[in-house]
Amino acid sequence: MSAEIFAKANTLLGSIQNAAPKTKDELEQFRIEYIGSKGQVKKLFGEIRNVDNDRKKEFGQLANSIKQAAEAKFNEVKESLEASADNEIEVPDLTAPGEPFGLGARHPISLITNKIIDIFGRIGFTVAEEREIEDDWYNFTAMNTPEDHPARDMQDTFYVRDDEKKLLRTHTSSVQARIMEHNQPPIRIIAPGRVYRNETISARSHCQFHQVEGLYIAENVSFADLKQTLLYFAKEMYGASKIRLRPSYFPFTEPSAEMDIYWGLESETDYRITKGTGWLEILGCGMVDPNVLKNCGIDPEKYSGFAFGMGIERQAMLKYNISDIRYLFENDIRFLNQFEGAL
Ligand code: PHE
Repeated sequence: MSAEIFAKANTLLGSIQNAAPKTKDELEQFRIEYIGSKGQVKKLFGEIRNVDNDRKKEFGQLANSIKQAAEAKFNEVKESLEASADNEIEVPDLTAPGEPFGLGARHPISLITNKIIDIFGRIGFTVAEEREIEDDWYNFTAMNTPEDHPARDMQDTFYVRDDEKKLLRTHTSSVQARIMEHNQPPIRIIAPGRVYRNETISARSHCQFHQVEGLYIAENVSFADLKQTLLYFAKEMYGASKIRLRPSYFPFTEPSAEMDIYWGLESETDYRITKGTGWLEILGCGMVDPNVLKNCGIDPEKYSGFAFGMGIERQAMLKYNISDIRYLFENDIRFLNQFEGAL
């Protein structure tokens, strides 16, 4: 009786040794067949009661080694299957069409700034950038706006220090003073940057916005040069055919003017934005006041110059038909995405 059971055990060991599961499914079959709770190894242990007493110990050892052989095989195959799964490389389909990737969008303020820099760059203006926290001197006094000058009320100022000596610049005209201080004519600069005014935020105005300042100083610069430069700008920027200059006032220029471009009256929007006149105000300008030149160390007897300044938000709103200045500061992706790929 015992010999028969021993023979059975050896056959089982043989088939365990010969088994070679190659896939996960085959391995699972192997587990159920041999190691599982209803598997053959378990059954083999049940046979021990039929073994003669003097061979029970021997049989127990054999059954144990069969069990270990089955488990060792199971673990070995399992590990090698897992390792090969890790090494599996997904071969890409090289013939598949490329996936489109999003082109970032530049902010409309950057688009307009770059455009203006480009237009003036073509006639020899270079970019000058300066600080946003300014001394009272550069923002006001050097710009011919002394302490008690009523023109200070034109621009509501954010002061950084109580003694009113440090402030957030209210215009990029402060750059003029800094450039003239360290350079002798000819000076031909364009100064873009952020400015601040203590104003109530609405659809049309904001407490922070951007300006571009232009400054040209050399010998014999005349009002005609200013006019021609602005006409060139109006044509390049807006395709405008005509400009007009209306007398105005700025402390740092004399004479001073506002430049309007002829926008036209073709659509209802044209009527609305030009208030039915066809003309649109674009920028402030004038001949640099001799006092400003003097304040900044340039001889007004020898040199003259012109300056102009404009709000970039206004240009962006006109160019891209944006109805509310606040869109430009909210960074709503749905708004900004509309400028994707724009130049
Ligand atoms: N600084 C003026 C403003 O902020 C604009 C300006 C600049 C006017 C240069 C004339 C000359 O309104």
